[in-house]
Amino acid sequence: MVSWKAWAGVFTQATDPRVEEFTESVSFDRRLFAEDIRGSIAHAQMLAKVGLLSQQECQQIEQALHEIEEEIRSGRFLFRPELEDIHMHIERALTDRLGDVGRKLHTARSRNDQVATTMRLWVRESIEQIDGLLRHLQEAFVERCERDEQVILPGYTHLRRAQPVLAAHYWLCYCEKFQRDRDRLSDCRRRVNVLPLGSAALAGTTLAIDRDEVACRLGFVDPQTGQPQVSANSLDAVSDRDFLLEFVFDLVLIAEHLSTWAEDWILWSSQEFGFLKLPEAFCTGSSIMPQKRNPDVLELIRAKTARVIGDLQALLVLIKALPLAYNRDLQEDKPPVFDAVDTVRACLEIAIPLIQEAELDAGAISERLEQGYLDATGLMEYLIGRGLPQRTAHERVGRLVRRAMEMGLPLGSLSLEQIQEICPEADQGVFQVLGAQRAVSAMQSYGSTSPAEVRRQIELWKTRLAAETTCLPSDTGQ
Ligand code: ARG
Repeated sequence: MVSWKAWAGVFTQATDPRVEEFTESVSFDRRLFAEDIRGSIAHAQMLAKVGLLSQQECQQIEQALHEIEEEIRSGRFLFRPELEDIHMHIERALTDRLGDVGRKLHTARSRNDQVATTMRLWVRESIEQIDGLLRHLQEAFVERCERDEQVILPGYTHLRRAQPVLAAHYWLCYCEKFQRDRDRLSDCRRRVNVLPLGSAALAGTTLAIDRDEVACRLGFVDPQTGQPQVSANSLDAVSDRDFLLEFVFDLVLIAEHLSTWAEDWILWSSQEFGFLKLPEAFCTGSSIMPQKRNPDVLELIRAKTARVIGDLQALLVLIKALPLAYNRDLQEDKPPVFDAVDTVRACLEIAIPLIQEAELDAGAISERLEQGYLDATGLMEYLIGRGLPQRTAHERVGRLVRRAMEMGLPLGSLSLEQIQEICPEADQGVFQVLGAQRAVSAMQSYGSTSPAEVRRQIELWKTRLAAETTCLPSDTGQ
């Protein structure tokens, strides 16, 4: 009964089934099967190269591993909790097929370096998927820029109308945020893309293996130089989960950015704002209030951010004060990582069509634009241009706004004489900065919402996104 366990030799008692059930991870780590098999094939090929396996044995192993992969993909593979994790399942299936030849695969490796390698392959793949989705999200925002070219939105601070901004400026704001997220992922990938395999349990191996060979086969290479990237310290390689922490942190920031966007759109699509029409296909109704069309998708995107933060928190606490090197605690790294990836992916997949399909209500927006004195800052800067110190200009415009409020008029409807009573420096040119359209057009600084600036940025984004043939360097190795 004890004999098929990987560690059976020294044991005289069979494992308690309750322990098997408690310690298993195959219920969640089975999704690593393709990466585990890919790692095993590269390992076997290396073992054959250095003479620890014959060519024939290696071919048998490769062939059998491909068959096992197919069996898992097709749903025919039998998973059993007593075989603990995905690595043991695959190895057991291999030895069932090949006997002693299968029993050679684990030469010069341990599950500790094996699981670290598998996770790195999986994370690398996930980075590429998430990056691809972020790119689509950016494209959706850039497309909106052209569609909403004529639209000016009230920009807010403290959720109070502040200054007018072009809708395109608002969309490109998200392109910038998500670009930083992409840059972070690409930077994280450099540290993910290092091979732990060959570190064995914690100390390395006495066998003459070729780790560079495995690294090249698995694409653990520097994209610039083509040099294999191999971990330099076996203790570090089997204990390190920094790469997961930083990856999940990057996912948290993506979720945070999505939550800000979702929150804005929840507000904008409310009756109180009325800026945005969400497609009905993306709304849900109420079981009791027939008139409701609720923005549940956006609310859930906002909410799921909490989950991803929870995943990061779980990982941070998991890693804290673990003694070197491998501890079984590390098995618990997987559920939060998988959850964070699945959650962010799902949010991105639903955000993209929503961004493409929602419609701004230009009429409702423009009505609000002329209320709230959004052009006051532009007027203040106009007075600065006429030689007034900023503090004085600010105070004068404050008084003028107060006067206009009492009269129930926007600044642009005051006569020059009325303006000059409080701001004697003003001349006819003052009207060039009053009203939302003019306030925007008067902008000049780099990075501002000036129409020329924004147009330039739209073109830059279009060129940048079109130039990306592949998002990240290919990981196919050889
Ligand atoms: N399922 C384990 C994990 O995810 C694999 C490594 C097991 N290693 C060990 N020494 N028990 O961490």
